[in-house]
Amino acid sequence: MNFPYLFSPLNVGPYRLQHRVVMAPLTRMRADRSSFAPRALNAEYYGQRATPGGLIIAEASPVMATGRGNPGTPGIYSDAQIAGWRGVGDAVHAKGGLIFLQLWHVGRASHSSFQPGGALPVAPSAVPITGNGMLAMTADGKMVPYETPRALETSEIGDIVEAFRQAADNAQRAGFDGVEIHGANGYLLEQFLQSHTNLRTDRYGGSIENRVRLLLEVTQAAIEVWGANRVGVRLSPYGIANGSGEPDPMPLYTHVVKALDSLGLAYVHFIEPRSSGAGRAEVNWTNVPSAMVLFRPLWRGVLLSAGGFTGESAEAAIVQGHADAIAFGRIFISNPDLPRRLRHGFPITPYNRATFYGGEAAGYTDYPVYGELEPA
Ligand SMILES: Cc1cc2nc3c(=O)[nH]c(=O)nc-3n(C[C@H](O)[C@H](O)[C@H](O)COP(=O)(O)O)c2cc1C
Repeated sequence: MNFPYLFSPLNVGPYRLQHRVVMAPLTRMRADRSSFAPRALNAEYYGQRATPGGLIIAEASPVMATGRGNPGTPGIYSDAQIAGWRGVGDAVHAKGGLIFLQLWHVGRASHSSFQPGGALPVAPSAVPITGNGMLAMTADGKMVPYETPRALETSEIGDIVEAFRQAADNAQRAGFDGVEIHGANGYLLEQFLQSHTNLRTDRYGGSIENRVRLLLEVTQAAIEVWGANRVGVRLSPYGIANGSGEPDPMPLYTHVVKALDSLGLAYVHFIEPRSSGAGRAEVNWTNVPSAMVLFRPLWRGVLLSAGGFTGESAEAAIVQGHADAIAFGRIFISNPDLPRRLRHGFPITPYNRATFYGGEAAGYTDYPVYGELEPA
């Protein structure tokens, strides 16, 4: 057997993982196109990737209609969506697996074609995503420049917190084992954290304490539903996805990590800067810091890290104490039996980026388990 540390048990909140190969949240845009509810195909996909005592973090799911920014992303704000997710959870639980749901609001990374009434996307401030090749996808799949979002009124921010609370409650009713707050990748909560996207002068802008306030309020709302030990938070310090980028990340993220550390969460989940933007392009940034190395000393709980890991580098990160478990993204797409392959040293099937987003079974549920086609 390879990688004895990666394949050792780990307590996460009230759960006991049997191994530390976590499935990272992966947007695949294959929910029902009108109700945005997960369907049988999605249950099959997640069921294929479930293992006894293995943790799956299900794809980012908008908590409210204004939080959508892509076609075919499953929501968690309607009864049909709750029912659809129940089918997913059942498929994972039938194999003894655990599944958390990632709660999402895309903020300015949307387009009016996704918004109720065709309104502008909402954000902390009226600052659009700009920059080289940064384009929005419209509801009918065209790539266009991002619009300038509408700054949320202070009086509207309570509705955002309430939507996360309701979504956390919906996730519980759908049978999930916990929730992960999406505080990464340039989406709404990160837009509030970072100074170039948050120009507010109310209690949600200005000082670091104020910019962190919404993330903490949303996390607290989820805690009130689930208890802290079933709530995780995902962060991407030094990330560049979706126009992200704090000029001086350390003071901000030191504050965020310390504030979250005091809450007793299930885990914190970092995206390693080297892989920031991996959803859009094949990236492997060099000369960037490591989030797990920087922030491990500030975090007393379980630490998950994601970004370009192999079995070898995952084992090393755990042995060296930088992380407790490793989330795998792209190679979990193309290897439904990834834990088994890593454990036995079976070859890794390469992924096909062309089928990451949207479509049906091709590039989704048709990747074989090892030995299905090849002799073991
Ligand atoms: C197709 C695709 C979809 C993704 N969707 C999400 C998502 O919904 N939420 C999220 O936090 N990260 C998302 N990511 C980032 C991954 O969770 C992960 O951090 C990244 O792919 C780096 O890990 P890897 O090198 O193992 O793929 C996505 C990445 C890819 C490739």
